[in-house]
Amino acid sequence: MKQQQNTYSRYGMLGHFLNGCKRFFIYTIIVSFLVTVFEMLIPQVIRQTVDSVLSDEKMNAPAFVVRLFEDMGGAAYFREHLHIIAIIVMAMALMLAVLIYLRGLTASVSAERLQQNIREDLFAHIERLPFSWHQENKTGDIIQRCTSDAERVRTFISDQMISILRIMIMVVMSLSFMASMNLKLTLIAMIAVPVVVGYSLRFHSSIGKSFEKCDENEGILSTIAQENLTGVRVVRAFGREEFERERFEKQNVYYTGLWVDLMKLLSLFWSVSDFIGGIQILLILVMGSVFCVNGELTAGEFIAFLSYNGMLIWPVRQLGRVISEMSKAGVSIDRIRYIMNSAPEEDKADAVPTEETEKALRGDIVFDHVSFAYEKDQEVLSDISFTIPAGSTLGILGSTGSGKSTLMLLLNRLYDVPEGSGKITIGGVDIADMKAQDLRNNIGMVLQEPFLFSRTVGENIAIRNREMPLEEIRDAARIACVDRTITDFKNGYDTIVGERGVTLSGGQKQRTAIARMLTQKAPVMVFDDSLSAVDAETDAMIRAQLKESLGSSTVILISHRVTTLMQADKIIVLDKGRIVEEGTPKELQTAGGLYQKIYDIQLSFSEEEAS
Ligand SMILES: Nc1ncnc2c1ncn2[C@@H]1O[C@H](COP(=O)(O)OP(=O)(O)O)[C@@H](O)[C@H]1O
Ligand SMILES: [Mg+2]
Repeated sequence: MKQQQNTYSRYGMLGHFLNGCKRFFIYTIIVSFLVTVFEMLIPQVIRQTVDSVLSDEKMNAPAFVVRLFEDMGGAAYFREHLHIIAIIVMAMALMLAVLIYLRGLTASVSAERLQQNIREDLFAHIERLPFSWHQENKTGDIIQRCTSDAERVRTFISDQMISILRIMIMVVMSLSFMASMNLKLTLIAMIAVPVVVGYSLRFHSSIGKSFEKCDENEGILSTIAQENLTGVRVVRAFGREEFERERFEKQNVYYTGLWVDLMKLLSLFWSVSDFIGGIQILLILVMGSVFCVNGELTAGEFIAFLSYNGMLIWPVRQLGRVISEMSKAGVSIDRIRYIMNSAPEEDKADAVPTEETEKALRGDIVFDHVSFAYEKDQEVLSDISFTIPAGSTLGILGSTGSGKSTLMLLLNRLYDVPEGSGKITIGGVDIADMKAQDLRNNIGMVLQEPFLFSRTVGENIAIRNREMPLEEIRDAARIACVDRTITDFKNGYDTIVGERGVTLSGGQKQRTAIARMLTQKAPVMVFDDSLSAVDAETDAMIRAQLKESLGSSTVILISHRVTTLMQADKIIVLDKGRIVEEGTPKELQTAGGLYQKIYDIQLSFSEEEAS
């Protein structure tokens, strides 16, 4: 099978997820920038007021501001009308509030859009991955990758990357405003930056282990709770309540202790970094006062400087934390990349056209020296060859694990026959050359353990065509001997199946699955032990009705019940992946092989039952 594989790099994959929501992130960045600009301008207004309105310093500002100031009447005018300045400051504060609101809005819209993209892409990709991939990867693990890892990747982009950008803008802008007023004091203010960033980076990297331990123990705690809920019957029946309660309590106490320890460490961190920040402010206060006295700095500049310093030092404390958290996102990105880079099922470019496949599917089915192994060197099927003439019925008998289901998975191409290990042809066409969907559309399969969705019984039967008329659904159900059972439910065919509805017995599920398969009207039909949970009588009845309705279909019947197979045109007997016997039921009955042995045992049992 030709497979087209993604090879996303870490950033390539993030870029892929950002498709279609990039502009929301750009809005967020622009608005964040504007917020910072307004935050920076307010101290400037106060500075000019102190220096050029309340004192007589010459205004030190861009030329157009100075001109505007003079045109309006200069210091003398504003001294008389101080409320104008108050209104300007208030208007700016209002503008700032609006921008902060917009920033919150764009940030959450972009985060949610991104989350939606990640979920959609992951789900769509997982749906296209081959069956063998799903067999190899545990469901719980896939779910975790799609939930907590996906969430961490979203946080990485929409929180952490954006935070870093915002902090950078803040730091660069406050430093440049500071430098425009006094370079020496700016340099003093900057000394603290690497100290604070370095300290918080070190702290947060070292605390990562403690967070992991908390996560792990939360998992253990919820597993105990979950096990007790699902296994409540066993707990009650064996009087284990007290033991389980103590086990839970012990874990709960331990888990709480871990968090308390972690919180102690975090409090220590915040107070130490507050202390460093405090020293820095103290330094600026002392040095600033000295510069003021020396005449290197005006009072207004000093006030503005203190505001900028505040804007500088607090975000810088976050920087170390964000960077150390970002470094942890790599693991999650790789865990999702593993899914996105797994090769989906893809048809050959020169695959056989659909009509040809449909025609071929009405021909003979030939297994030609097929061998197969799930795991290297552990052959499950060895050199299997047989032919099923079109329209005939083949029975397959064999003990559990002899490879019967595997044969059918290969026929349906849920697994591919590896190159050089033989081939399967139908109507002369190698199934490897067909489109997988065409092949599967034309082979109806009832699996040993059928799966029903948590939808209505009717929907479960009409799964291939939601428009199927009820009469057609019921016809199929009648042949499968399940119509009566369903109509006896209070809601009939609208009864919901599964956890939130009725629980069907094993036999009812199997019969529903048979009905589902019959609606497909496929030229090839496979029953993989699909009557095992049905009593012998119903089994016989279903078989009799099937015989009438199957018409010209080619049928494969897999069973461990000899009676089920007796009407087959030919039977093959599998043992440990090899064909050990084949022939008509009559021939095998007296051949003295495995079939006869099983036949004798099972028939003597049913005679006993009868007597
Ligand atoms: N996904 C799998 N990975 C590895 N081994 C498997 C897998 N599925 C089945 N097997 C093994 O292949 C052998 C044949 O299994 P199967 O075809 O299901 O037998 P049957 O249907 O006759 O009971 C068994 O030994 C089984 O353990
Ligand atoms: Mg099986």
